[in-house]
Amino acid sequence: MNLGVNIDHIATVRQARLATKPSVLEGAALAEKGGAWGITAHLREDRRHIQDADISALVRQVVRLNMEMAVTDEMVTIACREKPHSSCLVPEKRQELTTEGGLDVAGSFERVRQAIEKLHAAGIVVSCFIDPEEHQLEAAKRAGSDYVELHTGAYSNASGAAQTAELERLIRAARFAHGVGLKVNAGHGIDYENIRGVLRIPYLCELNIGHSIVGRAIMVGMEQAVREMIALMSAYDGGER
Ligand code: PXP
Repeated sequence: MNLGVNIDHIATVRQARLATKPSVLEGAALAEKGGAWGITAHLREDRRHIQDADISALVRQVVRLNMEMAVTDEMVTIACREKPHSSCLVPEKRQELTTEGGLDVAGSFERVRQAIEKLHAAGIVVSCFIDPEEHQLEAAKRAGSDYVELHTGAYSNASGAAQTAELERLIRAARFAHGVGLKVNAGHGIDYENIRGVLRIPYLCELNIGHSIVGRAIMVGMEQAVREMIALMSAYDGGER
């Protein structure tokens, strides 16, 4: 299982002062040095953290850039021009603090299908960020998505029995996604503690983790923060198939 490090919040700190530092390029390089398989950056419609120039520079520098993006003509055009290694399609609302729910692939099927077609034509691997619901997974498969990224936010925000129930949903969704031929990633809200439960989810190719790693990096440095997360991930034995 690979780690994708989301570096949006390095840009959040930079944009708080409209400054040039901290540098997302430096952060990405240190994350890769710490063992990150990929780097993820979300170019939001409101450009609150990652900027267009960051995407251009990251594509040139990192081994694999995963560009998180809304399913809009603007973002599809940018992705097809910049050609990141992969794109993760997410829903986006201006007022949200972070991505809230999964993408409604079933409800906006044709729009998602066409976006995936264009991204594939540009040579980009595509993932859809969705809630652990079978009809959405099935729609993502039909729309041509290569991967799904299972939304772990509800699991991460819950505790006790509710958290166990959310984990069971993720486990069932991963089995279903694998069964219909999707490759499975997961992300959102994963930290150095709740990752223990995440390791029960089967068929995981990649975890995308941002806030907890950038937060830890403030204390111990990016390279070390990434190494610590990878050490926890190394206990993965394939989950509960
Ligand atoms: N995956 C997706 C699709 C996201 O939108 C985010 C948040 O930007 C993440 C993963 C990372 O979430 P977190 O910052 O909570 O680790």
